[in-house]
Amino acid sequence: MAHFTLLVGSTLGSAEDLADDLALLLQKYGHQEVIHTSPQLDHILIKPQHYLLLICSTHGAGDLPDNIEPFYQQLLEQQPDLSGVKYLAIGLGDSAYDIFCGAIKTLAKQLDKLGATAICDPLTIDVSLEDPPEVIASQWLDPWLKKRVDP
Ligand SMILES: Cc1cc2nc3c(=O)[nH]c(=O)nc-3n(C[C@H](O)[C@H](O)[C@H](O)COP(=O)(O)O)c2cc1C
Repeated sequence: MAHFTLLVGSTLGSAEDLADDLALLLQKYGHQEVIHTSPQLDHILIKPQHYLLLICSTHGAGDLPDNIEPFYQQLLEQQPDLSGVKYLAIGLGDSAYDIFCGAIKTLAKQLDKLGATAICDPLTIDVSLEDPPEVIASQWLDPWLKKRVDP
C-alpha cells in the first residue's frame, strides 16, 4: 500500500473530476490518497514519502489555473529541496490552443528543477478527443499501479 497526495489545478472542474476518478482507481489497488484543490507547498513537504500526483488544466494562454498559482509561486519563492519527492503529472488541455497543456509542463519543469523525480513523462490529455480524460488517465496509470509499489 502506498500513499498519494493529489494536487489539483482546475478552473472549470474537469481536473477535479479527474482527480476524484483517479482516487477511486488508487483505492481499488488498496492505496490511500488525499486530494487538495487549494494546493500548498506544505502539502508535499509534510508528507515527502507520499507519491505526488499532479493533475492540472491550462487556462488563459498556456497559464496555470488560479487555484494552483499560489503553489507555483511558493515553489519559485521558497526553492525547497524536493529531492525526496517522486511525482506523476497529468495535464488537461485542448490542442486547439497555441500552448497545449502549458500549465502542467510549467509545473513539472519547476519540480524537476527543485530535484523532484518524475516517475515518467507527464501525460497530456487533449479534452477535444473522443475518449474522456478518466479513461485515458486510467489506461496510463493502471499498468504502473499493477507493476510497482513500494510498501
Ligand atoms: C478560456 C480558456 C482558455 C484555455 N486555454 C488553454 C490553453 O492555453 N492551452 C490548453 O491546452 N488548453 C486550454 N484550455 C482548455 C482547458 O485546459 C480544458 O478545457 C480543460 O479541460 C479545462 O479543465 P478544468 O475544467 O479543470 O479547468 C482553455 C480553456 C478555456 C475555457
